[in-house]
Amino acid sequence: MFKIQTYNKISDKGLSLFDKAKYDISEDHTDAEGIILRSYKLHDTKFPATMKAIGRAGAGTNNVPTDRCTDEGIVVFNAPGANANAVKELVITALFMSSRKVVESISWAQTLKDGESDVAAQVEKGKSNFGGPEILGKKIGVIGLGAIGGLVANACDALGMEVIGYDPFISDAAKENLTDGVTIKHSLDDIFAEVDYLSLHLPVNNDTKGMFNAELFAKCKDGIRIVNFARGGLINDADMVTAVKSGKVAKYITDFPNASLLNIENIIPIPHLGASTPESEENCAKMVVTQVSLYLETGNVLNA
Ligand code: MLT
Repeated sequence: MFKIQTYNKISDKGLSLFDKAKYDISEDHTDAEGIILRSYKLHDTKFPATMKAIGRAGAGTNNVPTDRCTDEGIVVFNAPGANANAVKELVITALFMSSRKVVESISWAQTLKDGESDVAAQVEKGKSNFGGPEILGKKIGVIGLGAIGGLVANACDALGMEVIGYDPFISDAAKENLTDGVTIKHSLDDIFAEVDYLSLHLPVNNDTKGMFNAELFAKCKDGIRIVNFARGGLINDADMVTAVKSGKVAKYITDFPNASLLNIENIIPIPHLGASTPESEENCAKMVVTQVSLYLETGNVLNA
């Protein structure tokens, strides 16, 4: 029997691809051959000598100590693209939320008392405070055109936005999948200066960590709206808070909240929900279970 240790709630439909006769799946193994996880941080976890494969049921692997895994001979698998549609749908939701004050309206509704005697007056107040622009015809910069960024760019094009994409590493196949309305530019400075919205789709690495900082915000149009469903580490949070408080950034919606971003007007934190749909959880789990089981049983590495 192969032992598989799970962390986080993993889709049952995904785990069911492990052959019951060959696999013992538990949250409590200490001598497993494989791990399947979502966002649990493995950096402080000591792996048993039996460990051979880790399947990260998501796109990024930054919660896995990949260098140490390489040293210890553990192969790390992930599920690129498997949650792209789920993330795209929430990014589009966030774009609308960054314009139209849905979140503020919900807070407004919660302040109304039961049996509020003058709802009409409260409605007038809400109506005069919570207007916001349409996205039709506005310019958006989609920074990173991988599986998720490409879908976001096409969806923004379909919504009638003017879409400017940026990705120095875009593959020919990814370029071919972009709709005709998506223009690619090669200078980030030019993009920042002209767009009304930014959607981030870059990985965090030594080149991109903290790259969205005061220097960059200074190059942006006043009142830019930024949505970040890529990684929190792309943003210098202190600079973002300053930019939001000054109105330079009209709205920041992030799937990566931390203490410094909470309870600030015009910053909307989302509890890392981009990939949280049953469909995406199933797709991701199935992809990594297939890869891990093939590797454990045959030693073959299936490229995702
Ligand atoms: C990802 O990297 O794709 C997400 O972090 C997945 C998740 O939310 O588990």
